[in-house]
Amino acid sequence: MTAERFYVTTPIYYVNDKPHIGHAYTTILADVLARYHRLLGVPTFFLTGTDKHGQKVQRAAEKARMTPQQQADATVVRFQELWRRIAITHDDFIRTTEPRHIQVVQAILQDLYERGEIYRAEYDGWYCVPCERFFMEKDLIEGNCPDCRRPVEKVREANYFFRMSRYQEWLIAYIEQHPRFILPEYRRNETLGFLRKPLQDLCISRPKARLSWGIELPFDREFVCYVWFDALVNYISAVGYRRDPALFARWWPASLHLIGKDILTTHTVYWPTMLKALDLPMPETIFAHGWWVVGQTKMSKSLGNVINPMEMVDRYGPDAFRYFLMAEMVLGQDASFTEEAFARRYNTELANDLGNLLSRWTKMVATYCEGLIPWPAGAEGDEERALREKTVAAARAMREAVAAFRLDQGIGAILAVLREGNRYIEIRKPWELAARGERQTLDGVLYTVGEMLRIVSGLLHPIMPAKMAELRKVLGEEDAPSHFNTLMTWGGLKSGQRIQGGRVLFPRIVAEPKDRTEESGAEPPPAEKPPAGGSQTPAGVRLIEYADFEKVQLRTARILEASPIEKADKLLKLRIRLGSEERTIVAGIARFYRPKELVGKMIVVVANLKPVVLRGVESQGMLLAASAGGTLRLVTIDGDMPDGAPIK
Ligand code: MSP
Repeated sequence: MTAERFYVTTPIYYVNDKPHIGHAYTTILADVLARYHRLLGVPTFFLTGTDKHGQKVQRAAEKARMTPQQQADATVVRFQELWRRIAITHDDFIRTTEPRHIQVVQAILQDLYERGEIYRAEYDGWYCVPCERFFMEKDLIEGNCPDCRRPVEKVREANYFFRMSRYQEWLIAYIEQHPRFILPEYRRNETLGFLRKPLQDLCISRPKARLSWGIELPFDREFVCYVWFDALVNYISAVGYRRDPALFARWWPASLHLIGKDILTTHTVYWPTMLKALDLPMPETIFAHGWWVVGQTKMSKSLGNVINPMEMVDRYGPDAFRYFLMAEMVLGQDASFTEEAFARRYNTELANDLGNLLSRWTKMVATYCEGLIPWPAGAEGDEERALREKTVAAARAMREAVAAFRLDQGIGAILAVLREGNRYIEIRKPWELAARGERQTLDGVLYTVGEMLRIVSGLLHPIMPAKMAELRKVLGEEDAPSHFNTLMTWGGLKSGQRIQGGRVLFPRIVAEPKDRTEESGAEPPPAEKPPAGGSQTPAGVRLIEYADFEKVQLRTARILEASPIEKADKLLKLRIRLGSEERTIVAGIARFYRPKELVGKMIVVVANLKPVVLRGVESQGMLLAASAGGTLRLVTIDGDMPDGAPIK
């Protein structure tokens, strides 16, 4: 990747339907890479947009009884709303219906036509509407489209063709000489494989009689331009090709076109040959990522399993969603999306490894240092050095991961630091240092953890900008780091600053009741300190002190209302009263009780559990129940007792 500038693009999305997780993924990935480059001080331009022409959009509009323009305008807003919601920092958003784009497409068409790169001929072949591509009889697989395997339509008509075939040998040589042009390598091989067969000329027109929704050919008004020939041009029209030479010279060639694996041929064969015919330099890298599948199944409207990113964000927040997508997908390969996997990563990595570490640290700084960030101790011990080196190494790993498109590996290095940080606290036991009055060592330990958190918050900022800004506020830091270098050097945390402690950064979540106890309270938050001693019964049960039990506040509660929760067939939402107070709790008891039979029951709840959000509902406590042999019964009170009574 060039060090001087970074121009990154996403595909421009069809506006025939609302955005799904695939669209969100590429755009978040581009955003994260753009944010890292800005942080590295590299001038960055990030382009996204929408593809408004073509048969897909025209057909969707016909179905919705709208004009294609109305259909496009209605859908584009949903993309823009989603990008706002998930904090996408694109520098430009191009729509192919804008004059700045249409003019460039028409100028290109005219130029290529005049230079004999485009010619007219009779066409006889097969057309796939969803892919918007023509195929020869021999290309079909069992009579269907070789790409999507759907039925094709027979077409015979006059059309215009781009002399793509003349660039075949040049393109093969170019790909062979530029190993980073198409990535990952197996996609490069796929394109080279495709180029082993003779390359056909590309049909770049559609007769208006069949498709009116597109850019008119400047030399024949009976035709519109093929949607892909129009769409690919967005990458240069947006940055001023034939309009603003200075802007164009600044950004072209693109550093990175991010695409999904299904649009490899259009980007690695059509687009380079178009650029070659225009005598323009090639983009540096075209990176094809894999697909998100749901569980083991392809996402599809007909299966009804399409993941709506807006729903995910409403439920779990934009940052956790961004984090999951970046951490879970190994760039290039397919990845599986399930809410269970999401909850697992969220609870382990965000709520526990990071969130819990932060709250342990803030509590200790509040208790032992009057809420002021301490000064680092003079001499550094082995443990401190190990944590410092690991943290700085994670910053280096993240910088390399960005260049190598392995964000999952960069994230892995950061998670290892967090786990090390938690272990470090356990080894150094600040509470014992405080008890022994070892002031300077205690200060040094708390500074070390705080400094590690500062670096981690900066490293994760491009992935979770809002949450990391929150974390950085606790540490008395600016919302965002000023430069990546500040994360490669140890010692930036400002001693003497008052920490802004408070809110739990990542409240624990539960996706499905099977992920947690059937009783459906929250899992207990991880222990603040390791258990002292740890004596066990002969059966292996770890015994606790009375003081541990005393931490749990059990109280009687009266169920006032009970109702099901949409799309969560195991959960019920309960409104309960504890004396003068009313609360909502979510319980995984729907398979054992009907809402009606619960109203009026006196139950026992854990009243001092940290709230968790379950299926979008905040659960403010947990009820108790016994479960065995596949059944479950609520714990109730023997005889009369007011609600809200403590249980001891
Ligand atoms: N309009 C064209 C792109 C033109 S670019 C000059 C287009 N649009 S699209 O809306 O159908 O798809 C956009 C992107 O979404 C593609 O990169 C495609 O790979 C990606 N995805 C569609 N489904 C996906 C998943 N299930 N998972 C990940 N990405 C997926 O093609």
